[in-house]
Amino acid sequence: MRGSSLVSHIGPVTVKTPEHSGRVAFVTGAASGIGQQTARQLAIDEGASVYVADRDAEGAARVVGEISDAGGRAHAVVVDLADTAALSRDIASLTDTFGPPDILVNNAGMVVTLPASGYPLDIWNTTMALNVTAPMLLIQHALQHMQAKGWGRIVNIASISGVRAGTGRLAYGSSKAALIALTRQFAIEAAETGVTVNAVAPGPVDTPMVRRLQGDSDRALYADMIPMRRYAAPKEIADSVLFLASERAAYVTGHTLAVDGGFLAAGVFVRNLFVRPSAAKA
Ligand SMILES: NC(=O)c1ccc[n+]([C@@H]2O[C@H](COP(=O)([O-])OP(=O)(O)OC[C@H]3O[C@@H](n4cnc5c(N)ncnc54)[C@H](O)[C@@H]3O)[C@@H](O)[C@H]2O)c1
Repeated sequence: MRGSSLVSHIGPVTVKTPEHSGRVAFVTGAASGIGQQTARQLAIDEGASVYVADRDAEGAARVVGEISDAGGRAHAVVVDLADTAALSRDIASLTDTFGPPDILVNNAGMVVTLPASGYPLDIWNTTMALNVTAPMLLIQHALQHMQAKGWGRIVNIASISGVRAGTGRLAYGSSKAALIALTRQFAIEAAETGVTVNAVAPGPVDTPMVRRLQGDSDRALYADMIPMRRYAAPKEIADSVLFLASERAAYVTGHTLAVDGGFLAAGVFVRNLFVRPSAAKA
């Protein structure tokens, strides 16, 4: 256990050292939404030195400022992860400040919803580059260090759209399914070296991405499909990432954890079926 004991005037007290102090985390898409919340919790609550990686320089600087103001350590990495040629070339220089990561959270992602027939090739390619190829390159880079150290945690943010189809989600759903498969591939190769590789599959989360995509009527429609009938807060997704990054999840690898208010569990799902008069008679 990482912690120390001391005795106060009211008796013995255990002061717990934050679980990830002395460790380095790299969180992509950390200027906003789920990534921002995850970076904050890793740095402020768990003591990691965190790279806030994003193409949004202003947003990344703001999140670094928030973490520093709360007493944590963070550094902004401004990078367009969809430019996989540049990423592959410059990858080592991205982690110069704190050194290579012990924890990698592949969170940056994009979604463009359009009909499958005629889906534009350029949008397909960019979605695959950001949602699949960039995580693959970052994992390859981080694994060298993690395996040499004998400890590492990799968490990929997938989606329920990688498990079940969603209207207009040809590129997004295919990319998230590929990210889930990629999670398993790396997990079995890294399994004997102290490194775990897992994914989180959120359902709808209340973030700027979703607010950009959906109006109020869409939101009510989506919420009705979720057994819990509400969107997740970013913290509920970040908490699951922190669990998978913790010692408590040391024996969990290759797993995709749905954090979705019951969405994937539901098949034929009729709200209030048993309070309807017709159902009561049957
Ligand atoms: N919000 C949801 O309902 C939901 C549901 C399931 C999965 N997800 C997944 O969660 C992840 C985060 O989503 P969010 O809702 O927090 O989104 P968000 O839009 O709030 O944040 C995404 C961040 O990624 C950054 N980003 C986008 N393209 C980038 C690029 N090319 N290079 C570097 N950074 C880039 C953006 O600047 C932004 O800061 C995504 O992978 C998304 O697919 C979200």
